[in-house]
Amino acid sequence: MAIRPMIWRDDRLTMLDQRLLPAQEAWLELTTWPEVRDAIRDMAVRGAPAIGIAAAYGMALAARTGADLAEADAGLRASRPTAVNLFWALDRIAGLNTADSHRILAEAQAIEAEDLAMNQAIGRHGLELVPEGARILTICNTGSLATAGHGTALGIIRTAHAHGLVRHVYSCETRPRQQGLRLTAWELMQDGIPFQSIPDSAAASLMSQGRVDLVVAGADRIAANGDSANKIGTQMLAILAHHFGIPFVIAAPSSTIDPSLPDGSGIPIEERSPEEITHIEGVPVAPAGCPVWNPGFDVTPGILISAIVTESGAHRGPYGFQGAAR
Ligand code: MRU
Repeated sequence: MAIRPMIWRDDRLTMLDQRLLPAQEAWLELTTWPEVRDAIRDMAVRGAPAIGIAAAYGMALAARTGADLAEADAGLRASRPTAVNLFWALDRIAGLNTADSHRILAEAQAIEAEDLAMNQAIGRHGLELVPEGARILTICNTGSLATAGHGTALGIIRTAHAHGLVRHVYSCETRPRQQGLRLTAWELMQDGIPFQSIPDSAAASLMSQGRVDLVVAGADRIAANGDSANKIGTQMLAILAHHFGIPFVIAAPSSTIDPSLPDGSGIPIEERSPEEITHIEGVPVAPAGCPVWNPGFDVTPGILISAIVTESGAHRGPYGFQGAAR
């Protein structure tokens, strides 16, 4: 399937507004870097690799419009804190040391093209972890919408399905923003992959009944020791998988690895607005003034992760990611 979360054309960034899916396929036309910053912050585009790609195009827009590039860089960096791909992509643009809009645009396009190639490689490497007739549990949206295309965890599911290995997918709804229910279900239906959406709270029950062979999730930032930040609820799945003896796999491109952090304790975790919990579709469902803690991500310890699949292969613990990914 050829879903793309954004397309550069006619000197602007045309972006699918993921907040409105699946009810509406509406496209935003972004012509300035602050518009890109707002789209990232307000989650019109989301998913670690897609955020990085959008930020790179944001810098191309900044250069085209003659904006202050240092200000644009700082503004885009402040849009969301957890996905390291954002900072990795902006570091790549800054590393060009140029204000030439053509060169910055070419780099943004290269980042996007490389991401697609990395996801396809992740899909191929992931095959060795998927048993025949696999029943796979996943969380959030890690598909074409979250990347340049194909996806990471969902990319493995897609490739494995194309090889006839997938019997069934269970997609966690992913409270509170429902990326699993709204976006992953949408992608799985378009691909004709057999699946059911489940409430996040049904995962333990499902696993205890022996109905899950593999859990695959994406990541927003992976520390050197393999500790992996991903959508809130992922750590819970890893602990459950460990309890029930089910392999738990993280899939992410190397642009998600942050080797500057020895472990996950230094990963900044975004806290999001209380309204995501207290309101549903704008309708209040909690007592007025209800206190809320709403972390967007949690960190799964590397020791609970059976394998981390990147474009270079399926890595197994103990993890020791090195090198300057940023
Ligand atoms: O808050 P989101 O929707 O940006 O969170 C997305 C996730 O947690 C994804 O699992 C992660 O970014 C990997 S996407 C390939």
